[in-house]
Amino acid sequence: MTQVPTFAVISGAQVHAAVAGREKQVIELVEAAYRLHGEGRTVNPDSYFLRFPDRPSDRIIALPASVKGDAGVHGIKWISSFPGNVANGIPRASAVLILNDARTGYPFACLESSIISAARTAASAALAAAVLADRRGARPRRVGFIGAGLIARYIHTYLAANGFTFDTLGVHDLSAAHAEGFQGYLQRTEKGVITVHDTAEALVRSSDLIVFATVAAGPHVTDPAWFAHNPLVLHISLRDLSPEIILSSCNIVDDIEHCLKANTSTHLAEQHVGHRDFVTTLYDVLTGKTTPPAGEPVIFSPFGLGVLDLTVARHVYDHVAASDGLHTVPDFFNELARYG
Ligand SMILES: NC(=O)c1ccc[n+]([C@@H]2O[C@H](COP(=O)([O-])OP(=O)(O)OC[C@H]3O[C@@H](n4cnc5c(N)ncnc54)[C@H](O)[C@@H]3O)[C@@H](O)[C@H]2O)c1
Repeated sequence: MTQVPTFAVISGAQVHAAVAGREKQVIELVEAAYRLHGEGRTVNPDSYFLRFPDRPSDRIIALPASVKGDAGVHGIKWISSFPGNVANGIPRASAVLILNDARTGYPFACLESSIISAARTAASAALAAAVLADRRGARPRRVGFIGAGLIARYIHTYLAANGFTFDTLGVHDLSAAHAEGFQGYLQRTEKGVITVHDTAEALVRSSDLIVFATVAAGPHVTDPAWFAHNPLVLHISLRDLSPEIILSSCNIVDDIEHCLKANTSTHLAEQHVGHRDFVTTLYDVLTGKTTPPAGEPVIFSPFGLGVLDLTVARHVYDHVAASDGLHTVPDFFNELARYG
């Protein structure tokens, strides 16, 4: 007879313990998930955005997904973005993720998921940075971060874990306090020269690897001339760049259907020209179908796929289970006899 699974709750502390120091492994998991996605061995429907008429900058997103391969799970991430939290001293994003058993459909774990989300985002950025830079022939040594929050910090950690070393590191943030906080973090971990730039232009012009991790709702960087030195751009916050910049660059996304939606910069560019011929996928780069050019800016815009969250969450679950750390909820599923 089929057993009903136990139901476990995994805390942020347990997630942190499972991924911290294992960045390389998380990057490998994320690459495997991208390959499965490219091979059609995932199901990743549109994210569902819950928005509020009286709080237009806040949202909660549902990302249901299913992934085959080693993970072999279904599930959903439910992630809030309340940018005003930062001013009140708590992180912008908070999240839970439910894992469902692939055979019975039963949910078997609920994981704190802001760390999983940050880790998979940073792993995807560091994977793309390495693959794109190596295929273009050189690793950038001048990095710049526009938007200096939690995601920027995670991306820096994962870039370092993926073999990037930097001579110079730039920071630009609309908030001087946030720029200073991130500068302090970099000073504790880096030997290169660290500069806080007053303008996005100064940062862009002096960086060969540029990370956008702001909460900008629309394009605030509009001049293609700033990118004349053909940098590699990790456009994680998705809405910072004008259609003109997108259309004068080589664009790599994680999933074309997902990324050209919800007023992202690539979506605005599509509306501008009436087609989507200007984008290709990271999977096509991974499999050698596309070679990113050295002679034009290359922009990676990942929408953020639920399959990445599920893959990392499954790994965390297995890690916690293997160390006997699962906190299961007794009698979570209780109405099990068909006729009582
Ligand atoms: N693509 C993905 O898969 C993915 C996944 C996770 C997060 N994200 C995005 O990453 C972004 C950053 O997340 P976070 O948790 O670090 O947010 P955060 O609120 O902690 O930090 C964002 C920082 O950007 C700064 N900022 C806002 N507008 C700016 C501008 N125009 N110029 C310069 N700085 C500006 C803010 O002052 C803040 O310090 C969010 O937009 C989030 O949606 C994307």
